[in-house]
Amino acid sequence: MAVTGLLFVGFVVVHLFGNLKVFAGADAFDHYAAWLREVGYPLLPKQSVLWALRIVLGLSVLAHIGAAVTLWWRARKARGRHRRRLGGAESQLAGFMLPGGLVIALFILFHLSDLTIGGPGASASFRHPDPNVHAYANLVASFSRPLVACFYSASMLLLAAHIFHGWRTLLQDFGATGARLRRVWVILGGLIALAVVAGNASIPLLVLAGVIS
Ligand code: HEM
Repeated sequence: MAVTGLLFVGFVVVHLFGNLKVFAGADAFDHYAAWLREVGYPLLPKQSVLWALRIVLGLSVLAHIGAAVTLWWRARKARGRHRRRLGGAESQLAGFMLPGGLVIALFILFHLSDLTIGGPGASASFRHPDPNVHAYANLVASFSRPLVACFYSASMLLLAAHIFHGWRTLLQDFGATGARLRRVWVILGGLIALAVVAGNASIPLLVLAGVIS
């Protein structure tokens, strides 16, 4: 759970940097999207790095969800008849991880259909990335729909809460318990969660407001 979680945080941060290119305009954003498909070429075939990433991320999602369900089942059995949850914000957030994670998984499925595949839920004007990428136009067309823009932004809030709590538990999983390390780690997790909300969630809202068009 911890290893795949760390991998996702790494991916989300890198993806956030890529998404921020939207503020540099359509050409910069599309250039970046095209580069993603060619990275490693000519040493490696086109899209091979992209496909390797897709396979690792896909398998990690399955492992992460499998581990989450196993943990939930073990905790349920360990509690036995004493099902009452402890009070406190941390415990509330812990109980929120599994349902929140499942909503995030649904978000990812929608997101892939919306901006990569052009399947159900994609905007009517979606254009496939082959042979030329239209990532910027697809993004603006998608987020011009208020319901979709709000869903993206709300999902980013959920993702930030998920990362914040998951990040805190990572240190325990890796066996590090030092108080100072813990404090620095928690602050770092808070900053990452904040960056995900401020950076990612702002994009759909700014498209909706007409600032990105
Ligand atoms: C508001 C937030 C987000 C925006 C604006 C955004 C934007 C995009 C765009 C434009 C693409 C298509 C790129 C292309 O076709 O070249 C994409 C692909 C993708 N995004 Fe996001 N994204 C966001 C959040 C997320 C999050 C939170 C995750 C995962 C936790 C995620 C996972 C992915 C994945 C897996 C792909 C597919 C890459 C591929 O296989 O080609 N995205 N995103």
